[in-house]
Amino acid sequence: MSGSERKKIYVTRRLPEEAMKLLEERFDVDVWTGEMPPPKGVLVEKVKNIDGLICLLTEKIDEEVINAAGPRLRGICQVAVGYDNIDVKAATKKGIYVTNTPGVLTETTADYAFALLMATARRIAEADRYVRDGKWKIPWGLTMLLGQDIWGKTIGIVGMGRIGTAVARRAKGMNMKILYYDVVRNEKAEKELEAKYVDLETLLKESDFVTLHVPLLPSTRHLINEERLKLMKKTACLINTSRGPVVDEKALYKALKEGWIWAAGLDVWEKEPTDPDNPLLKLENVTASPHIASGSIATRTKMAIMAVENMIAILEGKIPPNLVNKEVLKVRPPTS
Ligand code: GLV
Repeated sequence: MSGSERKKIYVTRRLPEEAMKLLEERFDVDVWTGEMPPPKGVLVEKVKNIDGLICLLTEKIDEEVINAAGPRLRGICQVAVGYDNIDVKAATKKGIYVTNTPGVLTETTADYAFALLMATARRIAEADRYVRDGKWKIPWGLTMLLGQDIWGKTIGIVGMGRIGTAVARRAKGMNMKILYYDVVRNEKAEKELEAKYVDLETLLKESDFVTLHVPLLPSTRHLINEERLKLMKKTACLINTSRGPVVDEKALYKALKEGWIWAAGLDVWEKEPTDPDNPLLKLENVTASPHIASGSIATRTKMAIMAVENMIAILEGKIPPNLVNKEVLKVRPPTS
């Protein structure tokens, strides 16, 4: 392929080297080098003259960006499994393929969700602050920083997809009773893990740990609201590694402050980065992290490579392995 025929890709953040190499061998690659996401105006300009866009979940690829796209734009490949930042309907209308990175991050994300659950139950972040801040005065206290047991307790998994099931396997290893709620039943998980399907209300009432693994959709926005938090046990922990807006933060603050629930472990926030003045951060019973559940070195590299492989497939006229909007095939069939 001669230089002039090379297709143009815009990448909204530098990817791990292996992924960059795969891209640069085949395409003309333009990379946004800032640490912050590119501003909307930049995206709107860039999409006019590219064949492919590789982006992160921080970029809002809304109707305005998609409608600004030139006729060459064939693919938007997201480096994440969730893609609520992309207006998929608008992309489909324009015949643009949208892909994500499922599977490669499942175990890493489940590891983190379980780590956050354990850290929240046993107050690990708070204990770290306690030691560093010189609060550790009594050599060993019978009532110092007491937490909740995990072994043998009940976990309620909201969303029993790939990641929810992977969390359930970890819970099984901790001798936990597994309840789950989802819009569809997962009979495989029921057989493999003795997970019991219950309605959301029962799950909230009976679980010692509630962990969220649903995508952000209109139907899951503020799924965990004041009314539902009130159903939970006073000793329960809420763990969120899905998307921040699945939980109503204002209601959660009340729940934690007034003791309706015991603690929360939050990796995701209604607004990211969350404001350091977010009242939730003033509470000792919140364990906080900055949206890093899929963040192992190996997994982030795999995610980037997966996004690039999807892009290569699209631009070679094939159906990409992780196509999100299958309906697009009717609008724009794959061609080489
Ligand atoms: C991370 O949050 C992802 O959706 O991959």
